[in-house]
Amino acid sequence: MKHYLVTGGAGFIGANYVKYILKKHNDIQLVILDDLTYAGNLGTIKDHLKDPRVEFIKGNIVDPQIVKSIFEKHPVDSVVNFAAESHVDRSIENPQLFLQTNILGTQNLLDTAKKFWTVGKNEKGYPVYREGVKYLQVSTDEVYGSLGETGYFTEKTPLDPRSPYSASKTGADLIVAAYSETYKMPINITRCSNNYGPYHFPEKLIPLIIKNILEGKKLPVYGDGSNVRDWLYVEDHCKAVDLVLLQGRPGEVYNVGGHNEMKNIDIVKLTITTIRQLMEENPEYRKALKPASPSTADLSWINDDLIAFVKDRLGHDQRYAIDPAKITAELGWYPETKFTDGIVKTIRWYLENQDWVEEVTSGDYQRYYEQMYGNR
Ligand code: NAD
Ligand code: TYD
Repeated sequence: MKHYLVTGGAGFIGANYVKYILKKHNDIQLVILDDLTYAGNLGTIKDHLKDPRVEFIKGNIVDPQIVKSIFEKHPVDSVVNFAAESHVDRSIENPQLFLQTNILGTQNLLDTAKKFWTVGKNEKGYPVYREGVKYLQVSTDEVYGSLGETGYFTEKTPLDPRSPYSASKTGADLIVAAYSETYKMPINITRCSNNYGPYHFPEKLIPLIIKNILEGKKLPVYGDGSNVRDWLYVEDHCKAVDLVLLQGRPGEVYNVGGHNEMKNIDIVKLTITTIRQLMEENPEYRKALKPASPSTADLSWINDDLIAFVKDRLGHDQRYAIDPAKITAELGWYPETKFTDGIVKTIRWYLENQDWVEEVTSGDYQRYYEQMYGNR
């Protein structure tokens, strides 16, 4: 039996990973550590909390006592760190929280794992670790900065973060690399592109656009909508994390993503036409429309006139695009889900799971929305 500590397992990607791992493997026990911030929702993983392979602990990755108590109680042999403050717009408003969680939290996890995993020292003074242990840091392609019209991020691209979010993720990556160099700790870093899919919190582009359409609201597109992201279906990402943890060469970075580049404006237009088409083909889906929307009978209002070009994000990165050649060559991974298929699956999921959206947006969401979009 293996024992994983999965942090951030109640968030978007972490929860999808928990579901993926429990389905795929029978020989893994999971301790999930999550502080249940606005982005974490226990309801997302509620079906798994009864599973004897799962224990959930509410707590902050920055807290040394909580992390230590987990290692004391469980023979953790792998740490997969998803926990983070993850939204660029929020990082522009409050950078400090991002540095605390993303950098200090990562260092705390590394330090505790190092203490519990060390079984001795070699002749040069480096720690010797228990057999089979590994720390995996879930990072982002945003650490590489922004691309022009051509080119791709490889693992050799220099780090050049530009937002407080990406700077904090870069700080975390550098401290992980430092534990690899200085203490020879077995680590991997994965750097993925923009994920999309079920359980995505509706502050990020795709779920926010879906939510706004269902409410008959305007669809805020920052700047001129020409910014490009390289979209990765979340389950493909979970597969990559699983592969890297089990088979990745210790000390290595793996980029995850590729070949799904889209301009924001095209995503918004595709989401509009897909929702309308799905509702025309399947009238059941109209139940997802909210009372504030113009009509459930005549859907002609679901068109590009809903788009509102709003003030651009400060320091808005123009383009991200990943070259996944390394993870494909070494581990056989490639992004299986084409964007045109993944977006339909995702929209269907939202149309069928409005209870989840209402649950996660019942707290501070309205206040956040007013503050972020009220003056744009
Ligand atoms: P998310 O915001 O949906 O979830 C983050 C989770 O971490 C939440 O459950 C939250 O409660 C928890 N958390 C936050 N601060 C915590 C703390 N101090 N202690 C314990 N738990 C805490 O994020 P996500 O989209 O699932 O992203 C997961 C990871 O993947 C992050 O590290 C993020 O930087 C990285 N990433 C995300 C994307 C993306 O497109 N979403 C792309 C690249 C990289
Ligand atoms: P987002 O989902 O926040 O991810 P990231 O900033 O990590 O790439 O944003 C994706 C793109 O969509 C980004 O270029 C900003 C843009 N965007 C909008 O145009 N409108 C919105 O309301 C949001 C949230 C994002």
